[in-house]
Amino acid sequence: MTQNLADASRPAVPAAVPAARTTAANDAARGGWWRDAVIYQVYPRSFADGNGDGMGDLPGIRARLPYLRDLGVDAVWLSPFYASPQADAGYDVADYRAVDPMFGTLLDADALIRDAHDLGLRIIVDLVPNHSSDQHEWFQRALREGPGSPLRERYHFRPGKGEDGELPPNDWESIFGGPAWTRTADPDGTPGDWYLHLFAPEQPDFNWDNPAVADEFRSILRFWLDMGVDGFRIDVAHGLVKAPGLPDLGSHDQLKLLGNDVMPFFDQDGVHAIYRSWRQILDEYPGARIGVAEAWTPTVQRTANYVRPDELHQAFNFQYLGTGWDADALREVIDVSLDSMRPVQAPTTWVLSNHDVTRHATRFANPPGLGTQIRTAGDRVLGLRRARAATLLMLALPGSAYIYQGEELGLPDVTDLPDEVRQDPSFFRQAGQDGFRDGCRVPIPWSGTEAPYGFGPNPGGPSWLPQPAEWAGLSVEVQTGDPTSTLELYRSALAVRRAQPALGAGTGVEWLPAPAGVLAFRRDAAEGSFVCTANTTGEPVLIPAPGRMLLSSAEAVETENGVELPADSTAWWAV
Ligand code: GLC
Repeated sequence: MTQNLADASRPAVPAAVPAARTTAANDAARGGWWRDAVIYQVYPRSFADGNGDGMGDLPGIRARLPYLRDLGVDAVWLSPFYASPQADAGYDVADYRAVDPMFGTLLDADALIRDAHDLGLRIIVDLVPNHSSDQHEWFQRALREGPGSPLRERYHFRPGKGEDGELPPNDWESIFGGPAWTRTADPDGTPGDWYLHLFAPEQPDFNWDNPAVADEFRSILRFWLDMGVDGFRIDVAHGLVKAPGLPDLGSHDQLKLLGNDVMPFFDQDGVHAIYRSWRQILDEYPGARIGVAEAWTPTVQRTANYVRPDELHQAFNFQYLGTGWDADALREVIDVSLDSMRPVQAPTTWVLSNHDVTRHATRFANPPGLGTQIRTAGDRVLGLRRARAATLLMLALPGSAYIYQGEELGLPDVTDLPDEVRQDPSFFRQAGQDGFRDGCRVPIPWSGTEAPYGFGPNPGGPSWLPQPAEWAGLSVEVQTGDPTSTLELYRSALAVRRAQPALGAGTGVEWLPAPAGVLAFRRDAAEGSFVCTANTTGEPVLIPAPGRMLLSSAEAVETENGVELPADSTAWWAV
């Protein structure tokens, strides 16, 4: 199934160091490009559709790379585009070295990586090591060959409990709802062993105690590093190692425990040996190739374990993503995040949205406390105002920040998708993540007045999820050049962030006195200082102007008595 690079004229493997904006000397001065990189997540299904079939693809992304360069991001993380039956939108990989035909070919991936590097953008690809697709050759052979097949050792096959093995081997539940086990049929058709899948039944978990699994992933890492990628986002990085004996959990509300406790299937200490071995491979390559952990752990302190100096480079800060628009809570999570990363000398990361959660413009449009999967549109005007303010706050913090495609357009979640168009497997398994992830995966509006708004080449053409009619007014084309647009706010913020020596990498902030509900902090550099003020209240607040205003998410009024920070707004100041 693996595709080969058939183009004999293909020049030698590219070095992964983009020439344009980040020189090696600059990187070294900052301690590594990834210490303050702004990384833009592309969800390939929904970014840009080059061939008009309604599904985004690699040629579509490639054609839009100049947009990302102009936006001012440093790197692009691509969600999976590998050969996959798409039972979980590509997070069910059937061949880790092949591009799914729906997204293009390996040559398209090669061209995309090269073009990105020419534009000064780095490329991070998604690696899915916790589970494969049930269509992966190993799993298919394991089923075909039946009990005793050595390939069964590469997954977790177990006999069932009960008189006839009719009960699952333990009480673990799938993140997507229902039991984490599915029973197989033996080659003669009789009911056989069960296999473990922490996610959908089409996603069997690998057995990382089996050396063939570890060998295979080291080889996959090298394959993509040789292709020139600058790093990997590691899916479910906390899940690879399971507690010996796969012990029962003894609880039937396991999802509620996630994130509060170390589980027998999540955040086991054994995962760290894997990342130490991967780090050695990453370090063999020139240009600081990185690993980023998607690790849902009970605390930021435990997340820090994944980014110790001999492990991965970054980990997502989901505690920050889960924090509401509230000054006290934000200050606390910012402090804890910075404090936790300091001892391991890893950059703190910040993220507000991704392909698994309700977009922050919609989260902030709703009352607090609803979590990260929300079904109601809420107050859109309020949500957007807060989202813009939250973005400026995030981009002012020390470390690296993640932007999810479309947030720069202020896109809300689509909360009213009809059931018949939904594709998220968790929707069909009901419980789990609530099944509302399709709402943040709706294709991007680029231009024009008719759907798919430039997502595909043909007006009136298809898109795999329908876009709301009002998205015509949110397109890149409409927002470009409008100084009040969210897109121009992001462009300005990223340009200022690049230009301000006090922004970007760092390990701490100095909190300044501020009225209740207002966050104010200072960051210093030899060339000049910077202050960020964020008013999280629903009322304007008057404060003494901290310096010269650089940027604001809403129009701040400067008066003789000071500056009036509008409700739910953030401003940046040069001091
Ligand atoms: C990660 C991905 C999510 C996927 C899951 C299973 O959490 O971000 O989209 O469903 O892993 O691979």
